[in-house]
Amino acid sequence: MLAVIGGSGLAGLGRMNVVRRQIVRTPYGDPSGPLVVGEIGGAPVLFLPRHGPGHVLAPHRVNYRANIWALRESGATDIVAVAAVGGMAQNVGPGVIAVPEQIIDYTYGREHTYCDGSDRKVTHVDFTRPYSDELRDQVLAAAGASAVAVVASGVYAATQGPRLETAAEIARMQRDGATLVGMTGMPEAALARELSLRYAHLCAVSNWAAGCGDSMRAISHANIDATLDLAIGRVQQIIEQLAVAYHGRSSG
Ligand code: HPA
Repeated sequence: MLAVIGGSGLAGLGRMNVVRRQIVRTPYGDPSGPLVVGEIGGAPVLFLPRHGPGHVLAPHRVNYRANIWALRESGATDIVAVAAVGGMAQNVGPGVIAVPEQIIDYTYGREHTYCDGSDRKVTHVDFTRPYSDELRDQVLAAAGASAVAVVASGVYAATQGPRLETAAEIARMQRDGATLVGMTGMPEAALARELSLRYAHLCAVSNWAAGCGDSMRAISHANIDATLDLAIGRVQQIIEQLAVAYHGRSSG
């Protein structure tokens, strides 16, 4: 089953008929909130707002282990993670939707693995290509079918937050090869891999990262919400198309 993790700006799926809300307990504690079980155009979909109902959980407070575990327990096999990000390359300015191919993890102090040796055997999962090629292709096909332009590449830098970055930090990330920056992509993607779930990122660029474009001197919050709203509307179109195509495949 397809699951969607909603980030900032995506508190629910517009065309989703909610069937029920499900409280799931996990060995790792409670997920961000009840899972929303529903359907889009007849296709079953699970939805989980990453920051909890009312957007109260800061990125470093999200219980990523519980979230991914709860989604798998509830039947998810594929996770599309939606995230607001900053852009730090020419092709990913505000308003762009990007489906990155790679990740660099700059986070620290987060519970980031199920393989901590306490109750599971330590395994070193392959993470060479952190996103599922198969699910990325399906997301890109859904974007094409719904005529939404997306940038089909990018390197996602995961930062600790909740503060935004310094210009020097962003310059360093650019030298590292990153093009997008957000605060929630890790350990989420790695945990999905540890549980053998397919995972892909749909990133909505809400602003130029620190020191880039019109964020040269500061990141203004003035336009972020409006930019994000527009991009998230298009993200919703992609997800609707994906849900229906995904269901057609798995039931056909
Ligand atoms: N940096 C980190 N995370 C973000 C940004 C940013 O500029 N914009 C949206 N999420």
